[in-house]
Amino acid sequence: MIRTYTCGQLKAEDTGKEVTLCGWVANRRDHGKLVFIDIRDRYGLTQVVFIPKESGEAYKTAQELRNEFVIKLKGKVNKRPGGTINPKLATGEVEVLAFELEILNPSNTPPFEIQDDIEITEELRLKYRYLDLRRNKVLNNLILRSNLYKIIRGYLAGRDFIECETPILTKSTPEGARDYLVPARLNPGQFFALPQSPQLFKQILMVSGIEKYYQIAKCFRDEDLRADRQPEFTQLDIEMSFIDEEDVFSLTEGLMKLILKELKNIDLPVPFARITYKEAMEKYQSDKPDLRPSTGTEFAFCWVVDFPLFKFNAEEKRWESEHHPFTAPAEEDLENLEKAPDKVRSRSYDLVLNGMELGSGSIRIHRQELQEKIFNIIGLEKEEIRKRFGFLLEAFQFGAPPHGGVAFGLDRLLAILAGENSIREVITFPKNSNAFCPLTSAPSDVDDKQLRELGISIKGKTLK
Ligand code: AMO
Repeated sequence: MIRTYTCGQLKAEDTGKEVTLCGWVANRRDHGKLVFIDIRDRYGLTQVVFIPKESGEAYKTAQELRNEFVIKLKGKVNKRPGGTINPKLATGEVEVLAFELEILNPSNTPPFEIQDDIEITEELRLKYRYLDLRRNKVLNNLILRSNLYKIIRGYLAGRDFIECETPILTKSTPEGARDYLVPARLNPGQFFALPQSPQLFKQILMVSGIEKYYQIAKCFRDEDLRADRQPEFTQLDIEMSFIDEEDVFSLTEGLMKLILKELKNIDLPVPFARITYKEAMEKYQSDKPDLRPSTGTEFAFCWVVDFPLFKFNAEEKRWESEHHPFTAPAEEDLENLEKAPDKVRSRSYDLVLNGMELGSGSIRIHRQELQEKIFNIIGLEKEEIRKRFGFLLEAFQFGAPPHGGVAFGLDRLLAILAGENSIREVITFPKNSNAFCPLTSAPSDVDDKQLRELGISIKGKTLK
């Protein structure tokens, strides 16, 4: 390290020490004989003073400083005179009298001030996200995410879970949104789909005997965006063998309790309320009830259970899966499967937090005959089934254990923990509401050569 202290570290007891600090110029105040700057790094701000007689050359160099220059300085820690102590600043009792100053890198004038309490348009913030991330508000959200991941990993590792990665270049998954497609150069005219979730792979991992799987997984869905939706988002994805709903509920409740305790020092009451889909619709006219008025707690979690297995698609006049076609029906309703599909409840569950769907999962079908019946009811043709899910169904014929799981939207959880209205605030480099990245200008045109290699032509465009 070329510094001896961070900019958030020095206290009155460090008075008299010789220190080296590195960071960005947060502001500069030229008082004629004295130049003051605040130097900023990830940890905080320290006031630095340059005095002609004592700072020598450094005083001259300090005249050149502008906001966001990267500097390294050496100096002596002094107690600030009585009236100039700043109680709002962790380092507010001291200042550094500089006697060496090096400009490590100058900076252009930033398009907005790097300050916490100023209004900036979202477009500008996202275009210059690297500057936006220098502000405490967004930085703290990244730190919160990092701490959340640490807690999740510790909790699940302590319960024997194996963290497994699954492919990003893959096949369409059954989550029901539009896929992002990736053309495959070596197989002209064919496409990978980016996973909407690791659903099929996590079920295959149960056939492999992994028993307890989790992944902090990137998922991709081409859907209309809202404050709680991004085209690319992160799930905590979990799957277990030889379990029932109660295992998923208690695992989740323990995890959420730990997260709330560690990150917010809140004692979350468990078990969470459980409410059937029917009751939720009747009482709250929503399958994502916000229980804050009835529970009072700030973080009102509940499980919504007993969803219908199917919903009727009136346009196409056919039944479709409410969750996805691998969701098991409730045992007691099996007799109605073919004669009254609308009466069949599923073994799926949603975790709702403050009126927002935070997670969703189910106990899965693991027997071939039942799976075929479900496919028949939703009108999937044999050929279609073979094309989309053949590899999973084949795997299921090699001893699939009973299994089930759940996936939580971590961006949504973080937004609620951070008190943010939009998940964009907790994502390092989010897309805007048009699924566009103002920083990189992606998506963008590609070279004609690339299109030619992929065998792709674009309507209305003649390739050069
Ligand atoms: P589901 O599709 O319900 O289930 O997704 C699980 C959770 O992921 C979050 N989520 C999103 N977050 C941000 N942006 C989006 N576009 C977005 N879409 C979903 C939500 C949601 O509750 N494979 C199943 C889970 C399972 O059955 O185990 C699945 O993905 O918080």
